[in-house]
Amino acid sequence: MKKKPIIIGIESSCDDTGVSIIQNRNVLSNIIIHQKIHKKYGGVVPELASRLHDINIPKAVQKAIFSAKIDRYQIDAVSFTLGPGLIGSLLVGASFAKSFSMGLEIPLLTVDHIQAHVLSHFIQNANVNNSYPKFPFLSLVISGGHTQIIQVNDFFQMKILGSTLDDSIGETLDKIARKLGFHYPGGPMIEFFSKNGNDKKFIFSKPTVSGLDFSFSGFKSDVLQFLKKKLNKNTFFIKHNLSDLCASIQRITAEILLEKVQKAILKTGISRIALSGGVSANYEIRRTFVSFFAKDTKYEVFLPKKKYTMDNGAMIAITGLLKYERNLFDSVHVIPYSKFKTF
Ligand code: KG4
Ligand code: ZN
Repeated sequence: MKKKPIIIGIESSCDDTGVSIIQNRNVLSNIIIHQKIHKKYGGVVPELASRLHDINIPKAVQKAIFSAKIDRYQIDAVSFTLGPGLIGSLLVGASFAKSFSMGLEIPLLTVDHIQAHVLSHFIQNANVNNSYPKFPFLSLVISGGHTQIIQVNDFFQMKILGSTLDDSIGETLDKIARKLGFHYPGGPMIEFFSKNGNDKKFIFSKPTVSGLDFSFSGFKSDVLQFLKKKLNKNTFFIKHNLSDLCASIQRITAEILLEKVQKAILKTGISRIALSGGVSANYEIRRTFVSFFAKDTKYEVFLPKKKYTMDNGAMIAITGLLKYERNLFDSVHVIPYSKFKTF
């Protein structure tokens, strides 16, 4: 029987270094090295991120090969994130992947980071109910870099229906979290402190953008100005209301996202919804989507397992594998791109 191809995926678009090896959609290894240094700066420092990728990628590749229990000569192709992301970080990953492909004389596969978040659902058992979404489906990509609703007609036939016009949802939560006194990334901290909070205690304005686009800068300013006013009167305001603030911010965020997805469903008639990206790890967002769509059996909601929500190498490897199966190879002359491109 012919050996199923083994693909290595390298992710380095932001601060996390992710390297994964997959075969036949099964994850043989999935290594993530987080860069803790950015915590003290309140956000990712691009120069530091690229320098650390340079140190972390070889380490993560060695670990991934070791824990997959394979020999590096068994790898059939190397896939890596070409963009969008921080250009320095992308260049480090691209240089490594190109050298790896030339050294081992194996094909090179380039991956769009957003497509990889969308396709993370096709990793074997990546979804909480261990099934794959059927085409067409609507993908809500919510991360630190992006907020988009994408109509997915096939693996590489995707149409962007709506995007954020300003900040991404992850960026918004991280900035609010910073004001609340949390370090970067603040999204998980908001989730943690929202437990036992009253999610109706504080009301913030929802964006009024028509159509399927998002806007979060107004919501962010509303929260930040509210906190400033309250802190002027009472320096302990955040401390005394932390759980209620986090719960209220989280509830409104989940409602904004749900309302847009409802609109996209009305527009397209598609009733399968797949969430992805770091912010889709959020408990309240997951709960809101599952409980709303549980009302009617025609809807199906797909939630990625938490390890596949944040940036990871497995989503790059699965996208690479899907390209490999379609002979969508690239040359070593490809150039990383920092800005989001239409697919
Ligand atoms: O997908 P990701 O790892 O990187 C990008 O592609 O941007 O997403 C990172 C974002 C950060 O903004 C982080 O605060 C947010 O995901 N995040 C969360 C949670 N876990 C990560 N936001 C809310 N709740 C969470 N549990
Ligand atoms: Zn991402």
